[in-house]
Amino acid sequence: MIIRCIDMDHTKSKDSLRGMDREACLLRCQKIYDHPLYQKHFESLQELEKDRIFCRHTFEHFMDVARIAYIMNLEKELGLSKEIIYAAALLHDIGRDEQYINGTPHEVTSAKIAEEILGECGFGDDEIRMIVEAIKSHRGSKEKNCEDNNSCTREELDDSILKLSGIIYIADKASRQCFSCEAQNECNWSMDKRNLEISI
Ligand SMILES: [Fe+2]
Repeated sequence: MIIRCIDMDHTKSKDSLRGMDREACLLRCQKIYDHPLYQKHFESLQELEKDRIFCRHTFEHFMDVARIAYIMNLEKELGLSKEIIYAAALLHDIGRDEQYINGTPHEVTSAKIAEEILGECGFGDDEIRMIVEAIKSHRGSKEKNCEDNNSCTREELDDSILKLSGIIYIADKASRQCFSCEAQNECNWSMDKRNLEISI
């Protein structure tokens, strides 16, 4: 699997967060995918979900979340780095296998795995913090997550982290097409959470 930059003039543009060459930045997303720890959890997750009738956590889901979140970033003019959004999306559910195995909430495990992988893929401390916080809060509001887990202080909730958390949370939900799902009747998602029509 190769993750390529499809931005036509990417060689000229600079990443907004670090001023790095865009192509060099996007190679770091490829490094995430190629990382042995990522592959280990990804393969384990695919095996554990192979007979699952409800939403699965395939690579398509990770890319759907990335693309929806990036579209939101553009439409709302949030100014977040494309690479940071993709990195968060690629990693947000990666620890889901451990939730099946030992019950640890997957946002907790995914955040831990992300921290380890990102440090070895050339991401800086601020970038790692931003991505990890977005992963921790992708199942609920940032404020609630902080109160529950005491994982960060209110002072740490800077603007970029809140923006990234918000679009990953919404994109994760928006990526599911409940209206065409064959397991609708058995699904435990409340009706107000479900995507029951095409929304654009
Ligand atoms: Fe997800």
